[in-house]
Amino acid sequence: MARLVIVSNRVAPPSERQQKAGGLAVALKEALKGDVLWFGWSGQIAKETSTTPTITEGKRLTVATIDLGEQDYKHFYVGFSNSTLWPLFHFRLGLLDFLREDYQGYLKTNEDFAAALAPLLRPDDVIWIHDYHLIPLAAALRRHNQMQRMGFYLHIPFAPTAIMDALPCAEEIVSSLCDYDVVGFQTEADKRNFMACAVQYAGAELTSDHTLSAGKRSVRAVAIPVGIDADAFAKAAEASSGSKEAKRMQESLVGRKLIVGVDRLDYSKGLTNRFEAYSRLFDRFPQHRLKVSYLQVAARSREDVIRYQNLKRDLDRLCGKVNGKFAEFDWVPLRYMTRSLPRSLLAGFYRSAHVGLVTPLRDGMNLVAKEYIAAQNEEDPGVLILSKFAGAAESMDQAIIINPYDPDQIAEAIHQALTMPLGERQARNKALQTIVREQSAGAWCRNSLMELRAC
Ligand code: ADP
Ligand code: F6P
Repeated sequence: MARLVIVSNRVAPPSERQQKAGGLAVALKEALKGDVLWFGWSGQIAKETSTTPTITEGKRLTVATIDLGEQDYKHFYVGFSNSTLWPLFHFRLGLLDFLREDYQGYLKTNEDFAAALAPLLRPDDVIWIHDYHLIPLAAALRRHNQMQRMGFYLHIPFAPTAIMDALPCAEEIVSSLCDYDVVGFQTEADKRNFMACAVQYAGAELTSDHTLSAGKRSVRAVAIPVGIDADAFAKAAEASSGSKEAKRMQESLVGRKLIVGVDRLDYSKGLTNRFEAYSRLFDRFPQHRLKVSYLQVAARSREDVIRYQNLKRDLDRLCGKVNGKFAEFDWVPLRYMTRSLPRSLLAGFYRSAHVGLVTPLRDGMNLVAKEYIAAQNEEDPGVLILSKFAGAAESMDQAIIINPYDPDQIAEAIHQALTMPLGERQARNKALQTIVREQSAGAWCRNSLMELRAC
């Protein structure tokens, strides 16, 4: 079978998977089982971007990475990727910063990626490019005479035309997506948004429900939801529930129910609304005071982006406010940690938590929702509270679905979850377990690669 070439901004080979919080590395695990070249950024910043990759050859997996130059890190990663495209695709125009020099840096870095990758490619490779950092990469590779099949997968939401309108270079960005043979999205809604944008900005014509004709090219758009390896995660959760950390956690709870939230510290995750909702829980339902503890693990992320610095400041303050208002001398209602923890440890915490809180204002999929379900003990499962704006909500409708903009509704949902009868918890959990197993990481990889290999 043809070699698979995976390209993503972050490269996280299996041994380093614990280092950075984020969904992409988790989802790609299955794809790494065959003959694979994985190319991307080393995570290191140098004076200039190098176009000579550092190559580490393994038995089946070869990893090739390049360092980013200071200016490219600033304009490509901090700037256009995470200060323009990220807020745009998460429907947050109020947080969008656009600078022409950032866009130029984004294009230049994509050219550098192409220049470094092209010499490593073989004519029969299948190339699978990931996420918003690398939208123009297919076009850049084609300029290096690379005519292989190329697929793109967007791990985050795709914006509708009314939002895309705010992007000064919308035509170029959307047209670049039409340089791929297959473009994959998390949900049907994202796919529809892309198709509408392709018509409006790239002059594409719809030739069927999932194909477009753009210039001389035909592009296939597919919705294939990302998942996790639920059985492996369930095993990790079970194993971790016997660990010394799990024991410490139980001792610290002294019989109180645990609510858990695990996210990157990102404004798309709805953390400020979540803290506000938790505070309302005690105003509206005082019977829960002293009876619950909420652990929020918020891994610091993109710390050079100003909006993330502002969010951290807001959350630090809000956490102090909640605890200052409700704490007792022997009870801290909100435990807030701004670092990442090993996934195995998180798995154990999910399993012991009565409530999993996943309340993004907008999210491509949200793998934490799936991990929380996979970790549950089917005899006495916890309850998932899930935002209707997470891609996961398209199929996980047996969670308690909330609107994250309504803190009262979140507080009511927490109360409902904390008091839900066992039979209802079991029934919801059973339905959700089925979904999480059907929409697995393996199925996502197989279906995506089948689409790509068939074109
Ligand atoms: P995103 O890709 O936007 O970060 P997802 O929920 O899809 O969001 O994926 C996040 C992944 O990163 C999950 O596998 C989750 O377990 C992991 N993760 C999130 N927050 C943390 C954290 N604080 N510590 C360790 N891992 C985390
Ligand atoms: O899809 C979301 C995403 O950009 C992933 O590509 C990545 O795993 C995660 O967020 C973390 O982001 P960063 O690479 O900026 O640390």
